[in-house]
Amino acid sequence: MNPFLEIRGVRFSPPLFCAPMAGLTHSAFRRLLSDFGGYGAVFTEMLSGTWLLNENLRTSPAVKRRPQEGLVIYQLMISDPAQVPAVAGQLARISPCGIDLNCACPAPHIRAAGAGSELFEDRDRLAAILTALRERFTGPLTAKIRLGKPQDNWQTPLRDRLRLFEDCGLDAVTVHPRFTSEKLRRRARHELLGELASWTRLPLIASGDILGPQTIHARAHHFDAVAGLMLGRMAVVQPWLFAAWEGRKPAVDYLEIWLRYCQYAAEDFEPQYVLGRVRAFTAYYARNFMFGHTLFSAAQSARDLATLREQATEFLGNSPAPVSTPCIDSLA
Ligand SMILES: Cc1cc2nc3c(=O)[nH]c(=O)nc-3n(C[C@H](O)[C@H](O)[C@H](O)COP(=O)(O)O)c2cc1C
Repeated sequence: MNPFLEIRGVRFSPPLFCAPMAGLTHSAFRRLLSDFGGYGAVFTEMLSGTWLLNENLRTSPAVKRRPQEGLVIYQLMISDPAQVPAVAGQLARISPCGIDLNCACPAPHIRAAGAGSELFEDRDRLAAILTALRERFTGPLTAKIRLGKPQDNWQTPLRDRLRLFEDCGLDAVTVHPRFTSEKLRRRARHELLGELASWTRLPLIASGDILGPQTIHARAHHFDAVAGLMLGRMAVVQPWLFAAWEGRKPAVDYLEIWLRYCQYAAEDFEPQYVLGRVRAFTAYYARNFMFGHTLFSAAQSARDLATLREQATEFLGNSPAPVSTPCIDSLA
C-alpha cells in the first residue's frame, strides 16, 4: 500500500480512515481521536439529507468540525436526486474536504427510506444522485458499498456499479466485503479484495474486521491491491489505535481517556443526550478489559451520568486487566 492516497489534490496520509459510524463518529469522538492522531481522515456518521437542511452545521454535534480533527469526510444518507442541490449547497457552507455517499447501510429503516444498500440496488436513482453530486462538488467524492445481495451472480451488479462510479466521476470507493443481508455477521471477505480492486480503476478502501496491523500482516496478499484501510469498531475500542499503527506508543490511561470522552461529549451535546453518547462509547471501550462486562453493564443500567462516572472510576481506576486483542464480534 502506498504511504498516502491523493485524490483531487487532497492527500490522505497515512491512507488510514476512521469509518462512518452512526451515533459514534460525532465531533466529540473525532476530537478524542485527534488527541492521538495517526489517521488520514475521519468519516462523519451518515447524515440524512433532509436532516442536514434543517441543521445548524456550525453547532451540530454530528457535523461541526474542530480544526484539530484534521480531514473530515461527510457521509450522506440521501435517496432523492432532487434533494442534492440543496444538500450540496448547505454542505458547501462548511467547505467539506470530501463527500461520501452511503450505498451500504443494511438497516431496515434506511432501506425503507430508499437510501444505503437500497440505493445501491436502484441503478437509475443512484446514477442521478451521483451525477448531481459531482456537478456540485469539486472535491473528493466517494461511495461506500457492500457486496450487494447474496445471489448467484452477485458480481454482475457490483461490477456494474463500480463502472457507474467511474462514469459519474467518483474518486474512490470503500468496500465492506459482506453481503447486505449479513449486517455484521460472519466475517468480512478479505480474500475478495484483490479481485474487487481489479474490477475498477478507482482506488479501493477496505473496510471490515481490520483489528490493527496484525490483520494486514497475517494476510498481506489480500490487501496488496487496496489503496486505503478503514477501521470502524476497533477505532472506538482503542482511539489510540491509529497512532499505535504508526509505531508510536501513546500513553494510555484508561480512566483519564474515558473521563475525557465524557467531558468532550458533555461540551457538545445537550445534557439529555450525553448519557446516551457515553453509553454507546462505553459499550466499545469496555472490550479492552477481561472483565469489561462489568463496565458495560454499569453503563447500560446507570440512571445518570454521575452514577456512571462513579462506577466507571471504580472500575477503570483499579488497573483492570486488559485483554491482548479486544474482540469486536457481536458489537453492532
Ligand atoms: C454502530 C455502527 C454504526 C455504523 N454506521 C455506519 C454509517 O453511518 N455509515 C456507514 O457507511 N457504515 C456504518 N457502519 C459500518 C462501518 O462503517 C464499517 O463498515 C463496519 O463496522 C465494518 O468495519 P469494522 O469491522 O472495522 O467495524 C456502522 C457500523 C457500526 C458498528
